[in-house]
Amino acid sequence: MGKLIVISSGKGGVGKTTTSVNLASALAKQERNVVLVDANLTTPNVGLHLGLTKFPVTLNDVLKGEANLTDSLYIHPLGFKLLPGSLSVRSFAEINSRKLKKVFDDLKEMSDYVIVDSAAGLGSEALSVIKLADELIIVTNPELPAVTDAFKVVTVAKEIGIPVKGVVLNRVRRNNYDLGLRAIESLLETPITSVIEDDKNMRQAVYRKKPIIHIRPNSHTAQQYHLLADRVHKGEYERRIEELEAENSFLRSVLRGLGFN
Ligand SMILES: Nc1ncnc2c1ncn2[C@@H]1O[C@H](COP(=O)(O)OP(=O)(O)OP(=O)(O)O)[C@@H](O)[C@H]1O
Ligand SMILES: [Mg+2]
Repeated sequence: MGKLIVISSGKGGVGKTTTSVNLASALAKQERNVVLVDANLTTPNVGLHLGLTKFPVTLNDVLKGEANLTDSLYIHPLGFKLLPGSLSVRSFAEINSRKLKKVFDDLKEMSDYVIVDSAAGLGSEALSVIKLADELIIVTNPELPAVTDAFKVVTVAKEIGIPVKGVVLNRVRRNNYDLGLRAIESLLETPITSVIEDDKNMRQAVYRKKPIIHIRPNSHTAQQYHLLADRVHKGEYERRIEELEAENSFLRSVLRGLGFN
């Protein structure tokens, strides 16, 4: 029976989809059996990140009872299965939580990991997905509005008994304007598992419609996503801040020594 990991955030646009596609790809590269689900039903964009936009059948159709789950699963060339959302503005209907649970349970039966990209915040669409998580990963940027919104999601998730396992701190710039790792960790009362820097190659990844771990496999960012996949697999979400800092500068110096940035 696989584990269902929901990638969530308080604020929109902080990097949930980027985290989801790279985590799914990194786990698939480690030979795990992965299903990536686009459960951001109103504005799905996993397909856009992966260069796939024309899906005859989507999760929306399955939830409306108009299609079978097996017909809505696509094998991605990068080694994972994809359950897409529909890009059509007309196809979103109120989520039927019972049906969604059945879909998730069936996916867990057939995989090691179900990675679920979700909508930001605590609207009914986001909450019905969060409620079904075996583990929740919160993505945030190191700035106050994103972290305070993340705090609301962490609080509500914990209240309903969902294990909030770790934080992916994304688009870190290491300047005086970023909130510090320690401050974020203590505010969210959740360990920071990964620190992903603001990476100019991310735009290239979106343009080339492939995860950055494939576009720039030797980059610092790619290495961080592989480490995240290791940690998720081992269930070791907790890192000491010193460890995160040391790891970052160690990786940087190794890559620089090899001629990569
Ligand atoms: N580490 C990063 N460095 C630079 N750009 C990034 C990074 N992470 C994500 N981005 C860019 O930020 C934008 C938003 O990312 P993404 O779509 O993953 O966010 P999201 O949280 O899924 O948004 P939404 O809430 O709308 O679903 C994208 O253009 C993406 O390429
Ligand atoms: Mg998204």
